[in-house]
Amino acid sequence: MDFGNIHLYCGDAMELYSEWQAPVAIICDGPYGINGFPGDLVSYKGLGEWYEPHIKKWSSFATPLTTLWFWCTEVGWATVHPVLEKYGWDYVSCCVWDKGMGHVAGNTNTKTIRHLPVVTEVCVQYVKKPIFIVNEKQMTMKEWLRYEWGRTGLPFSKANEACGVKDAATRKYFTKCHLWYMPPAEAFEKIAIYANTFGEESGKPYFSLNGKTAITKKEWAQMRSKFYCPIGVTNVWRVPQLRGRERLKSNQKAIHLNQKPLELIKRTIEMVSDVGDVVWDPFAGLCTTAVASAALDRTCYCAEINHDVYDIAVKRVNDHLQDGFQCAL
Ligand SMILES: C[S@@+](CC[C@H](N)C(=O)[O-])C[C@H]1O[C@@H](n2cnc3c(N)ncnc32)[C@H](O)[C@@H]1O
Repeated sequence: MDFGNIHLYCGDAMELYSEWQAPVAIICDGPYGINGFPGDLVSYKGLGEWYEPHIKKWSSFATPLTTLWFWCTEVGWATVHPVLEKYGWDYVSCCVWDKGMGHVAGNTNTKTIRHLPVVTEVCVQYVKKPIFIVNEKQMTMKEWLRYEWGRTGLPFSKANEACGVKDAATRKYFTKCHLWYMPPAEAFEKIAIYANTFGEESGKPYFSLNGKTAITKKEWAQMRSKFYCPIGVTNVWRVPQLRGRERLKSNQKAIHLNQKPLELIKRTIEMVSDVGDVVWDPFAGLCTTAVASAALDRTCYCAEINHDVYDIAVKRVNDHLQDGFQCAL
């Protein structure tokens, strides 16, 4: 079902990725390994194998602009993390959703429970690191920048002259150590122009991917994911579990136990994308991501495998579009 730029699919996400535009953000809120909803795994132990084909697909469609938010339990994420790394996803930060005491109050027998009450989930930020291939060898951006400048025959100190700074360019953009920074687009452009003007003639072009022209400022800006840090927000998200009219119910019972607060999904989208950017949610449930994306003017692709859940989600998105997102904002 399409609502303008919001595309909802009923089916297995694995069969759908190839129909979707490349993502700037992927919101992954799939199986947790806690038997939490029909189709969830009963244990976290099989999560790595379960997610692997999906992660492989995301890697093939993602670009260096893409951020992945991976929702799970702590141990579920720990199990899947090596698989994410295997397919080129770089860990950035782990955010903890603290649902607070209200989540367990009146529900916990401390005489019998053998661990502390669990009131958290994690939402972990990954980015797709760019890989540069030179003579069939893979290089990170840091390695490639040094390699390209090295080819020019110019001393590394000349990068400062290229950027019009005293020593910051060589120190930040060409260091081998952990204090390395990716050059901003303006600095990169200056470096590339300088290298292609003063570098050895035989090696030109420098800082090029196509062997004909140097990467432009605009192209360089696309080589890393976006991030807009909201003021006053840390990696601990103290937001109560859904209740009230946002929680979708049937006969007083929650329709989907894993429906996420819109506030949190909107936050994750806003932090890593701009208006018009593409957001994926392969395990969409009640399509909270679609509602958030529509409210934020993003293009969105969602898949939900369960027909009953999908039908309710379609109605939900339609209702939000009709009421001008009064519930979503
Ligand atoms: C944790 S829930 C998502 C909840 C959602 N974030 C929300 O706010 O409503 C995961 C959903 O993924 C769906 N699912 C599981 N495997 C799937 C697959 N291969 N393709 C599409 N959906 C899938 C499940 O039916 C379930 O509704």
